[in-house]
Amino acid sequence: MNEAMKKHWNRVYSSKEVNNLSWYEKTPEPSIKLLSRCHINKDESILDVGAGASTFIDYLIDQGFKNIIAADISEIALNKLKERLGKEKTSSVRWIVDDITQPIHINNLEDIAVWHDRAVLHFLLEEHQQRMYLSTLKKVIKKGGYVIIAAFSLKGAKKCSGLNVKNYDQNMLAEFLGEDFSLLEYFDYTYFMPSGEQRPYIYTLFQRS
Ligand SMILES: C[S@@+](CC[C@H](N)C(=O)[O-])C[C@H]1O[C@@H](n2cnc3c(N)ncnc32)[C@H](O)[C@@H]1O
Repeated sequence: MNEAMKKHWNRVYSSKEVNNLSWYEKTPEPSIKLLSRCHINKDESILDVGAGASTFIDYLIDQGFKNIIAADISEIALNKLKERLGKEKTSSVRWIVDDITQPIHINNLEDIAVWHDRAVLHFLLEEHQQRMYLSTLKKVIKKGGYVIIAAFSLKGAKKCSGLNVKNYDQNMLAEFLGEDFSLLEYFDYTYFMPSGEQRPYIYTLFQRS
């Protein structure tokens, strides 16, 4: 576990209300759009990597998905999400506190049908971190499974939450995932922060062959 990163994210989630975070979405519309393109049934596993306190989890529960996994380096983020969901919904989700760059739990998952990452990969600046992310993704995702990755686009911000980010476009993400993954769909999306500032993202959907 990268303790400095864990500390950073725990501090961020402790210092603000979830709906004031600069990535908060009332409804995660672009993720919902890409999920709707995935041919999966409600029993299949969906892993939200770096879920934080994301409303994507609320959406998945409300849609009746039965095998939802929320993973994050920050237990404070996940606790905030649990608080919002309440006891019953919380118990329908599998919770994992883990570091995607040094995983000890996420890498034991299997048969993941959808890997969802909004605004996590772009924080991994070191090659060894990106390599570990990718090898974990490849280990846990099933054949024919889907990968949704949303990152700051090339015209997007260079920093988030005080940390430098790596900006991406769809070709860079395709190259990163490699030839086992086909790019099914992508789009640019301008997210508006609670402050009203704009944050351009690239959203991508891949399928493993
Ligand atoms: C910008 S937030 C996005 C949160 C969520 N995906 C969303 O869209 O609301 C980035 C999230 O990634 C998590 N994170 C950062 N580095 C991580 C790592 N190495 N392993 C797991 N989670 C990480 C943070 O704790 C934080 O919740």
